[in-house]
Amino acid sequence: MRNKVTKNIFLEMRRRGEKIVALTSYDYLCTKLMEDTGVDLILVGDSLGMVVLGFDNTLPVTVEEIIHHCKAVTRARPRAFVVADMPFMSYQASVEDAVRNAGRLVKEGAAEGVKLEGGERYVPVIEAIVHASIPVVGHLGLTPQSLHQLGGYRVQGKDRESAETLIRDARSLEKAGCFSIVLEGIPWQLAERITGAVSIPTIGIGAGPHCSGQILVIYDMLGIYEHGVPKFVKKFDELGARMRGAISAYAREVREGRFPGMEHSYSGEEAKKDRTGET
Ligand code: KIV
Repeated sequence: MRNKVTKNIFLEMRRRGEKIVALTSYDYLCTKLMEDTGVDLILVGDSLGMVVLGFDNTLPVTVEEIIHHCKAVTRARPRAFVVADMPFMSYQASVEDAVRNAGRLVKEGAAEGVKLEGGERYVPVIEAIVHASIPVVGHLGLTPQSLHQLGGYRVQGKDRESAETLIRDARSLEKAGCFSIVLEGIPWQLAERITGAVSIPTIGIGAGPHCSGQILVIYDMLGIYEHGVPKFVKKFDELGARMRGAISAYAREVREGRFPGMEHSYSGEEAKKDRTGET
């Protein structure tokens, strides 16, 4: 197993031109599977609201839900650096709220850093969280918590003015102390400009190939989440179809009396030993 990833490594990776590999995770088992795969950063994203909890968007997700899933992820003791998303309304109302909630994610969820959405106007919030010794990842572009303000999940920074605003935002997030910035749903040319405008690493999702690293939602890239997957998602497998196939095969074999066979049943002798061989 390689060494535990710490915050400072990301800056070094950017300096060396090494791509950062990031993925979301929400549970123990998936996190365990990431061992030795080379994932550098795990985000316990508020996307869990949609892919795990079945909400229509990320807005209903609570701090308690993020903590619950973050605990499961960090119990796997991943090599990757674990960042917890600050859910909607956990940092928007006041700086005090923000510091307290970021603190809960670290104290109760064992997260190593937090992520929050928004530009320049969140500088006081970011500064206060960093001042509390909690590493912060920024998030610019298509920020899903602003869904209603943006009028839907739309690519951002398409005109000159909004592109310049995003570049300014990125510079102010760096100055406020963010150690990295997620760039979501923006043209690749703008992501390249933003990456050039800051010295901290950028992590892209739907922001083209010129970011310092990439992140995807694990269930999207595995092909498990099948509802309205955006263009930027590459399915590295079709696990959804394969899972459905396996479940159908199980159902068929149970109905036809073919499962369990003798190889999956205990004889009287084995039963006396009282061993199940369970995992
Ligand atoms: O919640 C999430 O999973 C995210 C990533 C898509 C960046 O914010």
